[in-house]
Amino acid sequence: MVLSAADKTNVKGIFTKIGGHGDDYGAETLDRMFTVYPQTKTYFPHFDVSHGSAQIKAHGKKVVAALVEAVNHIDDIAGALSKLSDLHAHKLRVDPANFKLLGQCFLVVVGIHHPAALTPEVHASLDKFLCAVSTVLTAKYR
Ligand code: HEM
Repeated sequence: MVLSAADKTNVKGIFTKIGGHGDDYGAETLDRMFTVYPQTKTYFPHFDVSHGSAQIKAHGKKVVAALVEAVNHIDDIAGALSKLSDLHAHKLRVDPANFKLLGQCFLVVVGIHHPAALTPEVHASLDKFLCAVSTVLTAKYR
């Protein structure tokens, strides 16, 4: 997934808007994913996946921090998320199909909170970015 210069600008712009709300949006994304796509809960048998649980909040924070890390290293997402890629591919073995589901939920959450900022162009760029992150996190399966 190749991000154009315009994509990178759009992604950085929307993340600036997300700013300090990132932690909340992460939790909302997970809440939404577990509700809309309950099959994703199978990877979290050790979590309290009830709405707004402390574990969802803590994990949402980590997921968004990883996305911010990827934005900050947008020209080397593979390098920035290398350890996370090892974790998801070697240890967690999350079916790659689930990444689309998480990405879609994140897009919806961003759209709810920033309807004017999520223009079709920004939507397209953010989708490409989330696909790029997913590609990195699912690149090392064997
Ligand atoms: C753990 C990020 C997608 C399942 C993690 C961690 C991060 C992360 C930062 C914590 C790593 C650590 O504690 O060292 C991401 C990002 C994703 C993504 C950025 C995509 C954009 C997914 C998906 C699933 C998943 C789609 C499954 C539906 C898990 C599980 C853990 C984990 C089960 C371990 C949780 C725990 O026991 O604390 N992920 N993840 N991840 N992720 Fe992901």
